[in-house]
Amino acid sequence: MSEVAKLILDGKTYEFPIIEGTENEKAIDISALRNQTGYITMDNGFLSTGSTKSSITYLDGQKGILRYRGYNLEDLCENSTFLEVAYLLINGELPKQDEFDAFSTRISRHTLLNEDFRKYYDVWPKTAHPMGLMSSALTGMSSFYRSSLDPHDPAQVEKSMIRILAKVPTLASYAYKKFKGQPFVYPQNKYNYVENFLNMMFSLPMEEYQIDQDVVDVLNKLLIIHADHEQNCSTSTGRFIGSSHANLFTSISGSISALWGPLHGGANQSVLEMLEAIHRDGGDVSKYVKKAKDKSDPFRLMGFGHRVYKSFDPRAKILKNSCDKILKKLNVHDPLLDIAKKLEKIALEDEYFVERNLYPNVDFYSGIIYKALGFPVNMFTVLFTMGRAPGWIAHWKEMIESPETKICRPRQVYTGATERKYININKR
Ligand code: CMC
Repeated sequence: MSEVAKLILDGKTYEFPIIEGTENEKAIDISALRNQTGYITMDNGFLSTGSTKSSITYLDGQKGILRYRGYNLEDLCENSTFLEVAYLLINGELPKQDEFDAFSTRISRHTLLNEDFRKYYDVWPKTAHPMGLMSSALTGMSSFYRSSLDPHDPAQVEKSMIRILAKVPTLASYAYKKFKGQPFVYPQNKYNYVENFLNMMFSLPMEEYQIDQDVVDVLNKLLIIHADHEQNCSTSTGRFIGSSHANLFTSISGSISALWGPLHGGANQSVLEMLEAIHRDGGDVSKYVKKAKDKSDPFRLMGFGHRVYKSFDPRAKILKNSCDKILKKLNVHDPLLDIAKKLEKIALEDEYFVERNLYPNVDFYSGIIYKALGFPVNMFTVLFTMGRAPGWIAHWKEMIESPETKICRPRQVYTGATERKYININKR
């Protein structure tokens, strides 16, 4: 007999099935709870709520494990490329050579944006944050690429996926060029995915960009590290939007907006701004650690803590190594890195942080690397967007293909005024 959970409510016993995943994670299926009992569950921030079954990414926050489709993140970072990982996340298996060639050729054929799309950048102020631009551009794509909007036609969905993977780097580089006041650089098929992005970002009409394979390598790693993280805020947002059968472009636009927040992807920008503020303030790290511990002060140490990882963040571990290596190679001596190292040491030894299992997360090191590679701070979360795009797509595809999917529509416990009579404005 399969396991069940028993719930006693108002003297009556109810039984709910237990679901078990391939890594022995267990869940109580309470989908029939409201119908059977009239009660709902409350779980602010979904700390104990699973929203779906998923076969894409597994993570164990206690052991610091992160696997995409069964492959360890460390293994993929060491041996794979971002584009291959994108294929793996979306299709479930690593591609054979001919499959990979077809996939990357298709992507390189879609990197160009509709020429009218370039005018879209004209209307934005130069000071616009590129994440706002990216989010709107993705919604805009649903108007430019109307031939691939049907979420129930697999061929159209596949085309939208290719278009997003191909055009996000172009959109990102155009956002940067707009901010810099430099001419847009068209994509070039002679480069691979990451090289092409770097060239669109940094080449100038009067100066060819020299591609450094160590830079390509570290950027590949950064993108792989960000490629998926199961039901995080932006991925859940995309699945949520898609559950209404909104098209893929619009769903990903919502994911980008969710990622922008400083408690999620926006943290990489906040980390660097925090390190700069500490530097400007004389570099007294302990003052900021004290502030972070003071409950009457809203300040938090950005880049520390994670909802799921409670021993270490495996992504941060890989990035810490890459960070040391690339800074050495590029001969960067960054005072912010010294501050980051001091901060890391003090926080890791401090009782407050130890008790609460607050370790450096992925955003703690990524910003320092992006800065060393020449990316401005406001582009950091855009790089996260590029990395996470295949994860968002894979989850959206899984959601739309699953016969179990229903429109996401949580319940609430109403705590407002009870019924009252309208009073004319003169009598209030
Ligand atoms: N600095 C100081 N105190 C902290 C921090 C921090 N960075 N993070 C958590 N705490 C404290 C928090 O005040 C609480 O203390 P107490 O138990 O005394 O009330 C305790 O630790 C638990 O924190 P929480 O806010 O209940 O934990 P959460 O799971 O809701 O939040 C988090 C997770 C990532 C939002 C949070 O740790 C945070 O705000 N970190 C800083 C922002 C950041 O770096 N975000 C990037 C996350 S990784 C990238 C991604 O996956 O998006």
